[in-house]
Amino acid sequence: MCGIVGYIGPKRALPIVIDGLKRLEYRGYDSIGVLAYDQEKKEIYLEKQPGRVQEFIKTAQLDKKGGLAIGHTRWATHGLVTRENSHPHGDCQKKIFVVHNGIIENFQELKDALLKKGHVFVSQTDTEVVPHLIEERQKQGLPYREAIMQTLKDVRGSFALLIFNKEEPDLLVGTRFSSPLILGTNDQEFIFASDPTPIGLVTKNVLYLNDGDVAFVSEKGYELKSFLSEKVEAKRGVIDFTAGEADKGNFPDFMLKEIFEEPLALENTLRGRLLINEGKAKLGGLEPLEPRLREVNRVILVACGTASYAALAAEYFFEEYAEIPTEVDLGSEFRYRKPIIDNQTLFVAISQSGETADTLAAIKEAKTKGALTLGIVNVVGSTIARQVGAGIYSHAGPELAVASTKAFTTQIADLVLLMLFLARERKMSLVAGQEIMNELRKLPEKMRSVLLQADKIKALAEKYSVYKNFFYLGRKYGFPMALEGSLKLKECAYIHSEAYPSGEMKHGPIAIVDEDFPSIVLAPQDSVYEKVVSNIQEIKARKGKVIAVTTAGNQDLEKLVDDVIYIPQTLELLTPLLAIVPLHLFAYYLAKKLGRDVDRPRNLAKSVTVE
Ligand code: G6P
Repeated sequence: MCGIVGYIGPKRALPIVIDGLKRLEYRGYDSIGVLAYDQEKKEIYLEKQPGRVQEFIKTAQLDKKGGLAIGHTRWATHGLVTRENSHPHGDCQKKIFVVHNGIIENFQELKDALLKKGHVFVSQTDTEVVPHLIEERQKQGLPYREAIMQTLKDVRGSFALLIFNKEEPDLLVGTRFSSPLILGTNDQEFIFASDPTPIGLVTKNVLYLNDGDVAFVSEKGYELKSFLSEKVEAKRGVIDFTAGEADKGNFPDFMLKEIFEEPLALENTLRGRLLINEGKAKLGGLEPLEPRLREVNRVILVACGTASYAALAAEYFFEEYAEIPTEVDLGSEFRYRKPIIDNQTLFVAISQSGETADTLAAIKEAKTKGALTLGIVNVVGSTIARQVGAGIYSHAGPELAVASTKAFTTQIADLVLLMLFLARERKMSLVAGQEIMNELRKLPEKMRSVLLQADKIKALAEKYSVYKNFFYLGRKYGFPMALEGSLKLKECAYIHSEAYPSGEMKHGPIAIVDEDFPSIVLAPQDSVYEKVVSNIQEIKARKGKVIAVTTAGNQDLEKLVDDVIYIPQTLELLTPLLAIVPLHLFAYYLAKKLGRDVDRPRNLAKSVTVE
């Protein structure tokens, strides 16, 4: 969490950094701060305050000259949301300034030692120790660059840092360890950022810094070193979208735009990957691994948040079609269990951002134990994409709303492709593979037909916006969608909701049902339809209101439930891809009705780079 951006080059740096921060705000949006340096006047301009970029630019002096600037958008970890705790943070002499994403875990012991030496701190943050440590090392006689290197050896935890020193005003230093940082350059200009979206403001050419890399950048060029001061190389890449793609277009919010992009994202993730004649998925990154994938006898899918619900849906179809024992775990739990893994275990990490700390830690654990590790990742070149041996990119395009929508549907589609890849090597027939692929091809159009009902779903969301509690219920493939629908409502509308397998209701939760506790029930006409209808009857018998999501053409529920949303008929395993769209819309419209900031819900961040 937290977004950092820094620019050095011939242009005026501050507007570029501010533009970059707008694009990184999804990473944290408690406070914002910038530092720009005017080389002619030899002056620092430092401004920071709680709040969003939009408010900040009303007061910030954006016309400040200078070809070097750094900026930060904060998601508070240590210390309240105040001006003092906002970044950049400086040393005692206010010469060295840093912006930081991550957590310095041993900050308290470092701070105590610095306090004894007379350093004065003005914030409660962990970050503030960094400029003071550099200052202290310089006091002890180390040159600036060595003082930085020594400081990086002193700190423990995760960090991406940009460091500026008024005494070395032509130099911007960027470094990372377990938090993301990318350097973009067109050889005249250099831009550091937490993700590629701000980089696109300047160039498409990037260097993916590795953990432990330190980049010393001036207008003349850059030098990359390891913490041990050895020269290192970084992987070069080209980012695959322009800064323009990060605009809302005609939509009021990114979330709504991204929901409406679900069909296109699905098309993009399927493009070139359906070998209909062979009933197989073409996944270029996995081809070299085919012999090893044939040996796999167990699959573990690990993710956090929304991505973990894509994994849960996949658990059903991996076992049903590929016939491989499959389990799902959350990144934050997996690392603390004692997972049973061997070299026939396939470990798949699923992540939109490719930066989630818990998922990353799980990958490290799985690798240590000898699993074959793959990733399903949206952000190209992200840390997870580089950590796993191979994988499948989601091609959902930039997803900027904090609540994940289009990345979620592409994750499910990619998991279907992976399942086909594995299943066709095993028992699945050509005809069965072809049937799934032919239907996959039709899904983007079917999704579009669900989106055509947006006005109806909006009206429903407004009607139900008076309720304070919701159940989301489903069986089999419906259950993970219930979890995802419920999470969306919580995170966007701040409404209490609980998701259950509908068959579990009778084991306790149904005690809460009354006329003020509506249930949203996933009831497509699939193999468990009749069981779900029985569960709806049980709720209705207790005066609970029900919105049902069912298959177009099924009129039976009209008489039983209060409201019905129809989705097109599809294969059972692909139902989640259609059933989730109305639930995404429902959460969005309900949150809007309640006046919530849907793109930036309170207390959250999109990229969770702390444990
Ligand atoms: C955060 C986001 C969620 C996301 C989760 C996992 O909590 O708010 O929308 O599902 O992280 O993120 P990832 O980038 O790994 O998919």
